[in-house]
Amino acid sequence: MDDHTAELNKRIELLEKKLLEKETGALSLKDSEKRYRRLFESAKDGILILDAETGMVVDANPFLLQLLGYTYEALCGQYIWDLGVFKDIAASKDAFRTLQDNEYIRYEDLPLETREGQPIAVEFVSNVYLVDHSKVIQCNIRDITANKRAKTERKQLMAAIEQVGEGIVMTDAQGIIQFVNPAFKRITGYRGREAVGQNSRILKSGVQDEQFYHDLWSTISGGDTWSGRMVNRHKDGTFYTDETTISPVRDASDRIVNYVAVKRDITEHLRLAAQFQQAQKLEAVGLLAGGVAHDYNNMLTVILCYAELALRKVAPSHPLRADLEEIIKAARCSADITKQLLAFARKQTISPEVLNLNRNVESMLTMLKRLIGEDIDLAWMPEAGLWHVKMDPVQVDQILANLCVNARDAIADVGKITIETGNALFDEAYCAYNSGFVAGEYVMLAVSDDGCGMNKETIDKIFEPFFTSKDMGKGTGLGLSTVYGIVKQNNGFINVYSEPEKGTTFKIYLARDTAQAVATPREAMVEIPMSRGETVLVVEDEPSILIVEKTMLEELGYRVLAAGTADEALKLAREHAGGLRLVVTDVVMPKMNGRELATRLQSLYPDI
Ligand SMILES: Nc1ncnc2c1ncn2[C@@H]1O[C@H](COP(=O)(O)OP(=O)(O)OP(=O)(O)O)[C@@H](O)[C@H]1O
Ligand SMILES: [Mg+2]
Repeated sequence: MDDHTAELNKRIELLEKKLLEKETGALSLKDSEKRYRRLFESAKDGILILDAETGMVVDANPFLLQLLGYTYEALCGQYIWDLGVFKDIAASKDAFRTLQDNEYIRYEDLPLETREGQPIAVEFVSNVYLVDHSKVIQCNIRDITANKRAKTERKQLMAAIEQVGEGIVMTDAQGIIQFVNPAFKRITGYRGREAVGQNSRILKSGVQDEQFYHDLWSTISGGDTWSGRMVNRHKDGTFYTDETTISPVRDASDRIVNYVAVKRDITEHLRLAAQFQQAQKLEAVGLLAGGVAHDYNNMLTVILCYAELALRKVAPSHPLRADLEEIIKAARCSADITKQLLAFARKQTISPEVLNLNRNVESMLTMLKRLIGEDIDLAWMPEAGLWHVKMDPVQVDQILANLCVNARDAIADVGKITIETGNALFDEAYCAYNSGFVAGEYVMLAVSDDGCGMNKETIDKIFEPFFTSKDMGKGTGLGLSTVYGIVKQNNGFINVYSEPEKGTTFKIYLARDTAQAVATPREAMVEIPMSRGETVLVVEDEPSILIVEKTMLEELGYRVLAAGTADEALKLAREHAGGLRLVVTDVVMPKMNGRELATRLQSLYPDI
C-alpha cells in the first residue's frame, strides 16, 4: 500500500467514524426526546408549553387537557389570554408580560375554571428557558382541588369538634389518648396536653368492676360500638356520670388503629331527675296515705269516743276499766299516727296567720330545751329584721319539735343543736339547679346538729312515711314526713345537708308574706269547758262521727242539734236562732265547707 492509499484509508476511517458518531448522536437525541415525550405524556401534573415571545400555546400534555376539559386542537395554537382559563395570570397581552419577564413564577393556590366553568384550584409554576434558540415558557399545573377541599373539610370538622358540648377523645389501639377536645377538659378537668399520652384509664373511678371494662374492651376491639353509662373520676377526685359511645376506627387495610369516644356528662341531669322522681314518689305516697288516713281518723274518733263514754259509765274498781283504758291508749296512739299521715298528705286543717318566725321559735325555746335534755346545747340565732310568713303557728311548732327531736336522737351524748332564721332570695339560676324551687323571697328556718349525720342512701328516704333507722318502738318514721307535708302545704321548700359523722342541717324555706300585722303566739288551751246548758249545733258529714260528737257533748251537759249537711245546719240554725251559742263543724264537707258555713251562720246570727 502506498502512502496515498494509506492516507485515503485513514480519511475513510475518520469519515466513517464521524458518520457513526453523528448517527449515534442523532439516535441518542431521538431516544432522549422519546423518553422526555413519554414523561410529558404520562405526567400526573398538567404541563403547558408557551411560546415566550408570542404567548401562543405550543404544547399541552394529556393530563392538562383532561383537567381543563380541552382537546389538543382547541388548545394548541391559541393565545393564552384568549383561552379564558388563565384569566388571573394572563388575561391580556400585558398581563402575560409577568410570565415573560420572570424566569420563575409560582402560585400556590390559583383559582381556575375549566372549559365548562367548573372552578378548580391549582398550584402553578412557570419556568422560562431556551429550546433550539427560541424561548419557551413551561407551566406546570398541579390540581389541588381535592386536597384543598379536604383541608377545608378538616378545618370545619375540627371547628365542630372543638365547639361541641360532648367531650371527644381519640385513643390509639392500646387506649393511649391522642386527642381530646375542649369539652373533654370541661368534663374531666384534664387539659389537652395533660391527657394526651396518658392511658384512658386515668378516668377510672373504681365504681365499675373489671368485668365491665373487660366487656367494653371486647366489644370495641371486636369492631363494634359500645354505648353506656359509667361513673368516672374527675381530675379533682370527684365522681361524675358519663354517657359514652366508643367506636373503633379502621385504616385502609381494615385494621383498628384508633378508638373514638364521645362523652356526655349527665351527672346534673341525673341529680335533677332524681330530685323530681323523689318529689313525685312522695306525692303519690301522700295521696295514698291521705286517703287512708282520712277514713281511718274518722273511725278512730268513733272508737275513742265510745271507749271514753264507756269509761265514764264504769266504776273505778270495775275490772273492765283497765281494758277500756288500754283501748283508749291504743286508739290515741293510732290517731296520732293518722294525724301525722294527714299532715304528710297536706290534709291538716289549718288557720294561717301572719307570723314573725323569730317570735314563734322564742315561745318554743323552753319547751324545746326540756325536750332535748341538759347534755345538748341549744343555740338560737335569729336574723334581725326577719321577713314575715303566713302559716298556721301550730305547724311551726310541729316542724321545730320534729327537727329538734331528730337532732337530739342523732347526738350520742353531748352536742349542739342550732336553730337559725334568715331571709333568702332565690334567683332563676338557683331554681334551675334545685328542682321544684320557685324564684322569689323566702324566710329560712334551719335546724342543725353535730350528730351522727346520714349517708346518701338514708337521705334519699328520710321523707318517706315510716322510714326510720331507729329501733322498734323508738321511732315511727313519720316525723320528717310530717315536716315535709307541712312545708309543701305552705308552698315551701326543704333542703337537707348531711354527711356521716359531720352532722346534719335541715333548711326550710317559706314564702315571704308582705303583710305587716303579726299574730302573737298563743298558749295552748287545755281545760275542757263544761257546759252551762247552752245549745250547740254540730255539723259533720260522717254519720258515725256525728253520733259520737253529739253523745260526747251531751255528756258535757250541752243541748245538741246535729246536722249531716251544711243545708241542714242552716235550717236548724234558723229554727233555733235565739238559743244557739256555738257551732262545731267539720271543715271538709261536700257542697259547702265548714269555713263558708261558719261565715254564713255568723252573718245570719251575729250572736253565735
Ligand atoms: N338530724 C338527723 N341526723 C341524723 N339522722 C336523721 C336526722 N333526722 C332524721 N334522721 C334520719 O331520718 C330518719 C327518719 O326521721 P323521722 O323523723 O321521719 O322518723 P324517726 O325520727 O325515725 O321517727 P319519728 O319521728 O316518727 O319518731 C331517722 O330515723 C334517722 O335515720
Ligand atoms: Mg323523728
